[in-house]
Amino acid sequence: MENILILTKRFSIPNANQLEVALKHGAYSSLEKLFSMKPEDVVEEVKKSNLKGRGGAGFPTGLKWSFIPKDTKKPIYLCVNADESEPGTFTDRYIMEYDPHLLIEGIINTSYAIKSHTAYIYIRGEYVKQYQILSRALEEARKAGYVGKNILGSGYDLDIWLHRGAGAYICGEETGLIESLEGKKGQPRIKPPFPAVEGLFRSPTIVNNVKTIASVPWIVLNGGEAYAKIGTKDSTGTNIFGVSGHVNQPGYWELPFGMRFLEFLEKYPKGVKGGKLKALIPGGSSTPVLTAEECEDLYLSYESMLAHKTFLGTGGMIVMNEHTDMVKALKTLTRFYSEESCGQCTPCREGTSWLDRLLDRILNREATTKELDLLIEISDNMEGKTICALAAACAMPVRSFVTKFRSDFEKYVKPISIPVHKVAEKIIQKEPIAS
Ligand SMILES: Cc1cc2nc3c(=O)[nH]c(=O)nc-3n(C[C@H](O)[C@H](O)[C@H](O)COP(=O)(O)O)c2cc1C
Ligand code: SF4
Repeated sequence: MENILILTKRFSIPNANQLEVALKHGAYSSLEKLFSMKPEDVVEEVKKSNLKGRGGAGFPTGLKWSFIPKDTKKPIYLCVNADESEPGTFTDRYIMEYDPHLLIEGIINTSYAIKSHTAYIYIRGEYVKQYQILSRALEEARKAGYVGKNILGSGYDLDIWLHRGAGAYICGEETGLIESLEGKKGQPRIKPPFPAVEGLFRSPTIVNNVKTIASVPWIVLNGGEAYAKIGTKDSTGTNIFGVSGHVNQPGYWELPFGMRFLEFLEKYPKGVKGGKLKALIPGGSSTPVLTAEECEDLYLSYESMLAHKTFLGTGGMIVMNEHTDMVKALKTLTRFYSEESCGQCTPCREGTSWLDRLLDRILNREATTKELDLLIEISDNMEGKTICALAAACAMPVRSFVTKFRSDFEKYVKPISIPVHKVAEKIIQKEPIAS
């Protein structure tokens, strides 16, 4: 099973991003079967496949689609989330670059299943090359009758629009994306209502990640049960795992879920570069960091990540070797999140920048041990108290870095000095001395 390729099967074929070549290698072959099925049956197959969203949250895709109100009189929209801005995450771009027709085929499948006739691809602004390739592929698909009116004589109409972002990470959050598509500031909306009920132009909308949508044609062609047999019970199918940081061969590999992480690390990115493994950010910068010890029994699956109190996230892993200064590494993350907060919620707007300023104080050796506890306290007061998950995306790495690598942080801070009689009191009361 290790060799099964669903998302990257045409990557090694020269010019597979051109329609003529892609067609020779199976592009759009799911459509005949798709149009012979009822939309509800496609949703059922995707439910059976147990496909989970690859954008970060891992929400079951078929279940999300079934939340669209059955009796809606409003148009239904599909938004393809191609914003890919989470640090450490860089695999959606290769689908758009090497096999844009797979994404378009996935959009046709998904739109048909959810009874949508209009789909938008929201592509990260910096992805200029991918935007150009996707524009050309869409034009080819339109001319060949795969997009537009009465696709392949099926009676089904679908328009696909390509929309470029303007460089804001928050526009990857699904309701920020919707606001931005509507021409407003990309500020997330309070949920509920969730987009499946009230999304783009206040109509039912499904937002799905590029890899999620690109997985659908295989499921339609081969059936949900066949997909569910790949991987593990709770992590079905394949994913493209991207690896950056201190490895001998950074890159990306499509694999079924379930491989032991340390085996994967040796076999694909060819092991840690410049020393022993110190830490792993497993699924994009917002997922809690793991120590080398925790990686011993880690598997590439949603359930193994959860058992280690972290997340599979986007599948973008960042490997850090034993010489990594975890304080400096965390500082790059807090800087990013404080820059990217949209500013609507006080705990996020103030919290992210406060954490970032505290890290400056620590790096400048101005802080005391008390400020390490403050980092945790601020993080605790950010998570779950805001409109979207960006605040948690900053709080989770901060908490995990400081608790798991406290000795790195202690090298920078001064122990707090308190009067001798206070020390005696604390010893008697069994309290920590440096507080
Ligand atoms: C701050 C923030 C940024 C996000 N950025 C992205 C992104 O770039 N791409 C993406 O697919 N999902 C991103 N997400 C997740 C989306 O909100 C949403 O869950 C996802 O697009 C749903 O697709 P899926 O079910 O196929 O995973 C982000 C979430 C947050 C909170
Ligand atoms: S959590 Fe942060 S990014 Fe999300 S809506 Fe609130 S202020 Fe904006």
